Amino acid sequence: MEIKIQSADPAKRRQKPPDESKLVFGKAFSDHMFLMDWETQKSWKDARIVPYGDLSLDPAAMVLHYGQGIFEGLKAYRCRNGRIHLFRPEKNFQRMNRSARRMCMPEIDESFQVKILEALIKLDVDWIPHSMGSSLYIRPTMIASEPALGVRPASNYIYFIITGPVGAYYPEGFNPIKIFVSDEYVRAVKGGVGEAKTMANYASSLYAAEYAKKKGFTQVLWLDAIERRYVEEVGTMNIFFRLGDELVTPPLTGSILPGVTRDSVIQLAKHWKIPITERPITIDEVIDAVQSGAMKEIFGTGTAAVISPVGEISYKESSYRVRDGAVGEWSQRFYDEIVGIQYGEKEDPFGWVREIKI
Ligand code: COI
Repeated sequence: MEIKIQSADPAKRRQKPPDESKLVFGKAFSDHMFLMDWETQKSWKDARIVPYGDLSLDPAAMVLHYGQGIFEGLKAYRCRNGRIHLFRPEKNFQRMNRSARRMCMPEIDESFQVKILEALIKLDVDWIPHSMGSSLYIRPTMIASEPALGVRPASNYIYFIITGPVGAYYPEGFNPIKIFVSDEYVRAVKGGVGEAKTMANYASSLYAAEYAKKKGFTQVLWLDAIERRYVEEVGTMNIFFRLGDELVTPPLTGSILPGVTRDSVIQLAKHWKIPITERPITIDEVIDAVQSGAMKEIFGTGTAAVISPVGEISYKESSYRVRDGAVGEWSQRFYDEIVGIQYGEKEDPFGWVREIKI
């Protein structure tokens, strides 16, 4: 399908954030966005890049009532030699299609999604920040746009992509964050939609996240919804534990988002011959290991957060410091390697990087 391009009027270009070192996450958006539409039994149509702006939606649009919406998050990186890289974009688009199937929404050809991205990024290449650690965040999103109030999959959808320059996701940057273990509220249950990147998972996380924030914590660590014993994920990140010289992460059993950075850490660990196990791990085992000193490091992984060391865990009114709150050597090694590959500073033995020819 051809992608029509309507460039933004040079006189009406959006204001870029003046200071790259002060970029925050998800507040600034580039000049253009991609859009296309779907009608039942037809195919995607009217693929177009237009100036960034409001969407026109009927107030009865089904996404507004029943939350039939999915999204992805990936980044474009500017290398020191001027090249522009994407990191494993096909993984995001494969996951987008899995989310679409789970949410009864239409799929999109994965190579076409990459083609769209290339066209969009070429147009807004000036929006990609220059410093390592900052990047252009890309948010592909699909929403149910049919105006109807019966509860069923919609007939019409809008797919759009917006982008914007970002810095670190957490205000702490790469410094260790404090996480709060929720044993009262849960994020997702097996058989539910936890493994789909659908809006509801994020909405359901807000209440406990606000509670944690008031208590001085950056994020919530979720436990399984049935027994409230097994560690699941952080909501914006997957979680890894370094127990002695082994790495442990919860398995993907349906309620956890299958993160692209999670998969990259697992592959790197195998490549480096670090023992890595995907197995259920209880919060009691985690706390015991932190107390005994067997827990050498905890870190989260995510596209937005990259690698985020955890310096403190709070569970049942007690707080536990991990490694005295310092960054662990494995967290640092995974961070350096992944960021190095993303920015073309390190070799890419896995073929993860895709260059966009500008
Ligand atoms: C991402 O890491 O890209 C995410 O989608 C997490 C988030 C900020 C919602």
